Amino acid sequence: MKEIGGFFELNLKKNNKYPYADGFHFQSARSALYSFLKSENIKEIYFPRYICNSMIKPLELLNITIKFYSLDNSFNPIIFDYNNEYILYVNYFGICDVVIDSLLLKYPSSQLIIDNSQSFFSTPRENCAATIYSPRKFLPVPEGGTILTTKELNYTGQGTTSINALSALVKRFEEDAQYGYNYFRKASDELNNISCNKMSKLTYYLLNDIDYSSYSMKRKNNFIYLNEQFKNINLLNINEDLSPLCYPLMLRYKVDILKEKLISNNIYVATYWLDAINRIELDSIEYNIINNTLFIPIDQRYSIQDMRIIVKIIKDNYDKK
Ligand SMILES: Cc1ncc(COP(=O)(O)O)c(C=O)c1O
Repeated sequence: MKEIGGFFELNLKKNNKYPYADGFHFQSARSALYSFLKSENIKEIYFPRYICNSMIKPLELLNITIKFYSLDNSFNPIIFDYNNEYILYVNYFGICDVVIDSLLLKYPSSQLIIDNSQSFFSTPRENCAATIYSPRKFLPVPEGGTILTTKELNYTGQGTTSINALSALVKRFEEDAQYGYNYFRKASDELNNISCNKMSKLTYYLLNDIDYSSYSMKRKNNFIYLNEQFKNINLLNINEDLSPLCYPLMLRYKVDILKEKLISNNIYVATYWLDAINRIELDSIEYNIINNTLFIPIDQRYSIQDMRIIVKIIKDNYDKK
């Protein structure tokens, strides 16, 4: 029976803007992958060495044999003895659409799982087995993972919004990042409770009320500006027509000091992914990405003016190794 009276709820409008509404919506990208692997009863898979441990967890839970592959200098997977296994490929930092298109020509598309968690604005390619998104890495939402696939996936429970994730968003809105960070960490840890539960209603409503084209345009403008500033020193050769996760700036040496400089100026740069370090080889591209690359934030909250501040700090400290 309908509830009448009592205290008020949030009043969110039911909009229709989420570009991946056709997918299955889980609590995280790792849960989306878990549900897919489980329902397809997958026994072995080619998987990148260079990926966060959170995406390996679903494979361990399902006892799937992992065939790890390395990357070449252009982010192509190096795979020998291919025998029609599933392959998961990450669209690294949102700059690897070209690799995805070449993989679709090289391998059976029905065996390719594209992880667009770092590439929210990359459109899913037709015919691949599945495409995964993790909207919280790009957008102000508490959690969520969407998977697009023609297979039928089942939910086993309703979604609930993590109070920690919500607190992180609210704290950062009311105050500063440092106040919400503990909640954010706790919420990220909670996502390790992998399940086939649905995305929360709150997240889904928020995802449907975002001005995606303006968000994408702002990222693109910031990205183009940074590439103009850094393309002569960046060891990565990057196509400009993108709205990726960040601007990855790979240098010839470790970026620890530059990172510290940026962080001491309240510019928070991530590291992707220290937890992969034991799986990769010294001096490989993966090693250089972890150690020698700055991941500069370019998201919709920031303007070219903000990018100029970042560029100045990097250029002023460029030769400090
Ligand atoms: C490439 C990639 N895929 C998937 C994930 C997991 O996403 P989620 O936190 O939504 O499970 C991550 C997390 O860091 C990631 O970097």
